[in-house]
Amino acid sequence: MKKSKVIVPPIKCQGIKTKIIPFIKEHVKRKKSGLWIEPFVGTGVVAFNIQPERAILNDKNQYIISFYQKIQNGEINSSIVRDFLEYHGSILSEKGNEYYIKMRNDFNSNGDPLYFLFLNRADFNGMIRFNRKGLFNVPFCKKPNRFSKAYITKICNQVENISQIISGKDWKFTCRPWQEIFNIATKDDYIYLDPPYIGRDTSYVGEWPEEEAIALSKYSHATSAKVCLSMWKENQFRKNTHLYDYWSDFYWHELEHFYHIGAKESNRHPMIEVLAIKQ
Ligand SMILES: C[S@@+](CC[C@H](N)C(=O)[O-])C[C@H]1O[C@@H](n2cnc3c(N)ncnc32)[C@H](O)[C@@H]1O
Repeated sequence: MKKSKVIVPPIKCQGIKTKIIPFIKEHVKRKKSGLWIEPFVGTGVVAFNIQPERAILNDKNQYIISFYQKIQNGEINSSIVRDFLEYHGSILSEKGNEYYIKMRNDFNSNGDPLYFLFLNRADFNGMIRFNRKGLFNVPFCKKPNRFSKAYITKICNQVENISQIISGKDWKFTCRPWQEIFNIATKDDYIYLDPPYIGRDTSYVGEWPEEEAIALSKYSHATSAKVCLSMWKENQFRKNTHLYDYWSDFYWHELEHFYHIGAKESNRHPMIEVLAIKQ
């Protein structure tokens, strides 16, 4: 696999694909003139590394979308991010959890994407989770000195890199139902799918019931565009039966990688990731 530097975005989320970017880049073969379409763009890490000229980047999470829209129109840049994180980071270092909760409450009433960035970079494991009322509810990472100078600089550099990548490109960041995004696609386009894990937990916004996952397979088969699905195949405990049941006619490229539970080296577990590509 050819190694090139992976662009890391300023937003984090569960299931972020940073580690498998070289694998994705190796297998994505697309028409350069076509649209790059991501109905579940998340942090944007895949698009930021593929760097197509034209793209529709969509997600249900309106805060991520408005964060990138504001970078695109210049309302958010690295110096605005620096001022914001320095100011609130210094109060966080004095007040700790109490201030994190204040920022979370403020965000839940103002919906400001800068507050979202602050929470995303100060919360437990960079998680994104909303309760049934749509309120962000991830706890503090418990590190009051989270926003050190070096950490702020790292985030600002990430913002700067992303704004340079977006600049001058025909990219649209949208927050629409994923089905509508499929309807835009034509035969020259490439749809990269990274939906959430199928879950039974109904207490959170953003959960992905099996019916949606099945509908996604139907849309993917019906579209004339090329489709590539990212999904886990198996770990030592479980097989992903949905992949076998609904995507078996796509070509599966497999990659084994390891994840850790806790800090111990012995808790290193293999996981097989698949890129299932429509032939
Ligand atoms: C696995 S993540 C995508 C990760 C992304 N590829 C990355 O590397 O950052 C799945 C994304 O789907 C979004 N999502 C969940 N349900 C959705 C829906 N019904 N429509 C659109 N996006 C949805 C979530 O907000 C989340 O960002």
